[in-house]
This record gives sequence, C-alpha cells and structure tokens, in this order.
Amino acid sequence: MAAQKTDEEILRRLGSPRGSFTSGQSLAEGLGISRTAVWKRIRGLKERGFAIEAEPSKGYRLSSAMEPFNELSISAGLSTKLIGRRIHFFNSLSSTNNMALELARKGHPEGSLIICDTQTNGRGRLGREWSSPMGVNLYASVILRPKATAHELQGFTLLGAVAVAEAVARFSKKPVAVKWPNDILLGSKKVAGILMEMYTEAEMAKFVIVGIGVNINMDPLLLPAPLNREATSIKSASGLDVSRAEFTRTLCHTLESWYNIFLNKGLSAIIDAWRGYFTAEGHTVRVRSHNKTIKGICMGVDHSGALLLRDSTGVTQKILSGDLIRGA
Ligand code: BTN
Repeated sequence: MAAQKTDEEILRRLGSPRGSFTSGQSLAEGLGISRTAVWKRIRGLKERGFAIEAEPSKGYRLSSAMEPFNELSISAGLSTKLIGRRIHFFNSLSSTNNMALELARKGHPEGSLIICDTQTNGRGRLGREWSSPMGVNLYASVILRPKATAHELQGFTLLGAVAVAEAVARFSKKPVAVKWPNDILLGSKKVAGILMEMYTEAEMAKFVIVGIGVNINMDPLLLPAPLNREATSIKSASGLDVSRAEFTRTLCHTLESWYNIFLNKGLSAIIDAWRGYFTAEGHTVRVRSHNKTIKGICMGVDHSGALLLRDSTGVTQKILSGDLIRGA
C-alpha cells in the first residue's frame, strides 16, 4: 500500500468510532505492516499536525477537536460514494465557487469537493461579499451534474439548505431554522449560506455548483458591523469547538443523502423537508426584491421553492428571489 493510502487508512481506523482506542497490533494486522511501521507512520502523522493520542495499554486514537483541516483529515473516515470522493483543498482561493467552475469546465466529475481555508473574494447571494476569515470556518463548493433541465432545477438550491441545516443540527444544541431561500439560522442569527450557480446548455443543466459557507468556530463579534449583529457560528451558539474536518464529513453525508432523495423522488421531497425548518409561514414579513419591498403574510413556498406572499389587497404573489425579513 502506498504511504499516502496507509496514512489515510490509519486515520480512518483511528477516527471510527470516534473517541475509541485502536491497538497498534490490530492496526498492523489490518494494514498488513509491522508494528514498527505503524509506529513510524503515526509519528509522521503527528509531525504533520494530527492530534493522535497514545495510551500504552489501549493503543491510539484521534482527538477530534484538535483534528487538522486538510484533504487527508477530511477524507479519512469519509464513507460517501459520491460527494467528497475527490477533494481539492487549498489554503487560499478567491472563491471556491470560481475554482469549482474552472474544474467543472475541465470535466471534473460529479461529487468533486473544493475547499479552502480562506477566501479573498468570497461571494454571497445577490452580489454580496461573504466574509471568509482563515482557520475557523468552512468554505466549500460541490460540483453536481444532475440530468435535468434548468426549469426542473428551480428550487434545487433548497437541497443545499436542507443538507446544511441537517449537518448544523448534528453539531448544535440550539434549534436550526431556514430563512427563505437558503440562509441557515441558529436562533435568529445566520450561521450558514448557500450560493448555487447553474451552467446550462440548450436548456439542460451542464453542471451545478453548490457553494456553502458555514461559520463554525468564528467569533462573530470580529466581523464588521452590521454583520456582527446578524451572524453567529456553531461554536458561539453551542460553546463547543467543532472539528471542521468532522463537520465537512457530516455535510458530505447529508448532501449525498438529500441528493439521492432528489434523484429518486424529485424536488417535492426536498421542499417538504425544507418546510420542516421554515418558521415564517403564517407570519407578517417583508421581502426586499429588485429594489422594492413588499409586505404581506408569508404563505410558505410553492412546488418550485418560490416564496408565496399574500399582500394587503389579498393577492398572493410569487417571489423568485430576494431577502425575507420577519416582522412588519
Ligand atoms: C449567502 O448567504 O449569501 C451565500 C453565501 C455563500 C458563501 C459560500 S463560501 C463557499 C462558496 N464560495 C463563495 O464564494 N461563496 C460560497
């Protein structure tokens, strides 16, 4: 087995089940190498920053809070079949969506995951900037190639929201909610956002880039105003340091399972799940869309994920993009 593959296999075995020890003997037997070779590989991994604890009578285990964040630490223990099978990790990028676009155009396969530690030009929805400090959060883009028309993929962005909401819920004690169309909230503050970009050819989607930004261990107070009042992070909401590698693996799993649900059952199953996280239905809201603000009662979303808003004249309007604000 090549050294890289051996390292990946060691990390996979040490990381699963989380927190349990694996003896040097069973690693050596499982990998078909000597105990001395195991010891040498573990020493090498420690030198590269992996927090591996050793207990003479029990063996080795990976300390998850201290887990480094790179291609190897993410892929070790990842058991998805599609999402994240290929990981492209960078220390710094202008935007993971830009890199994903470049790779998708070159033919990189569906499921490829592009991640970086910091973005110099992170992009949000509606032309906004996405603040991307180094060493604390997740900035990721996934290449998907669904065989569908652009029309059939209206509302596909909600798939990202459901997958991210489910992953955040596994790491946070606070209830998770979505704000239309795809902001993820902890309490009333934003913890994650999704920027989906679709590329089409003759009505068919050529590929879709699902860009995901999750505030994981960031102190939101360090963001410039007014973002610092509106944003939160998993750590700030739960008080716990979260392993970014572990969060990324969880996200790969939730994305894969919701993508499979989409492929087998269509968008309606995704929208039903999304509704479970949506708390504004029946409430008075304002929606800022195309330089105007419409006020009304939120009637939920339709089969394509468009927002339904009953205005003061009793007419229900269908809104395709904009910002939703709770309250009158
Ligand atoms: C939003 O809520 O406005 C969407 C934010 C999306 C941010 C992510 S970070 C990774 C990917 N690369 C980008 O430039 N943007 C998305």
